[in-house]
Amino acid sequence: MTDLLVKLYELPEYTLLKKQLEEKGYIFKNAIAPEKTYVKDWVKEHFSILWADEVEVAFSRQPVSCIVAIKDKEIAGFACYETTCKGFFGPTGVQEKFRGEGLGKLLLLMALDALKASGYAYGIIGGAGPIAFYEKNVGAIPIPGSAPSIYQNLLKN
Ligand SMILES: CC(C)(COP(=O)(O)OP(=O)(O)OC[C@H]1O[C@@H](n2cnc3c(N)ncnc32)[C@H](O)[C@@H]1OP(=O)(O)O)[C@@H](O)C(=O)NCCC(=O)NCCS
Repeated sequence: MTDLLVKLYELPEYTLLKKQLEEKGYIFKNAIAPEKTYVKDWVKEHFSILWADEVEVAFSRQPVSCIVAIKDKEIAGFACYETTCKGFFGPTGVQEKFRGEGLGKLLLLMALDALKASGYAYGIIGGAGPIAFYEKNVGAIPIPGSAPSIYQNLLKN
């Protein structure tokens, strides 16, 4: 797993994409404290307990550093930032039935924009999975020698 570097000062515009998705009935927002157990359980069910643990860290922050996409009162996707490390993006995921509509891209851009607003010039995609997704949508580049990243020697079941 390699880390990727992203220029936060040259992020693509996303207002139109957000408007288009909102017109389709999606709601995007930073999650809030009373939603912690619901969001954590959802991430554990759809992705992994490791990501659910990172989500818990997001909920220890104010504002909560986890953006959720909601459709018809159901979580469609989520994106966190500054969970395992400062300046890091992730984890993120979109429920399978909602993929391919631009949700992953918008959640990525909103989370990176939040990192930018908190003062960073560059963001890091920590232990990137689909590298091509990040290259395509935010011009991310691999950080040489970063594999296996901070996630090396991870304790897990
Ligand atoms: C990666 C993920 C978040 C993408 O979500 P999505 O909502 O389907 O993505 P989008 O619809 O926003 O895609 C935006 C663009 O990226 C492209 N894209 C999506 N997934 C891609 C991938 N794996 N590789 C390359 N390009 C990808 C799309 O084709 C689309 O291109 P377009 O704008 O030219 O049409 C989703 O597939 C997912 O949840 N995967 C499992 C969890 C995961 O791997 N998370 C990342 C961990 S680092």
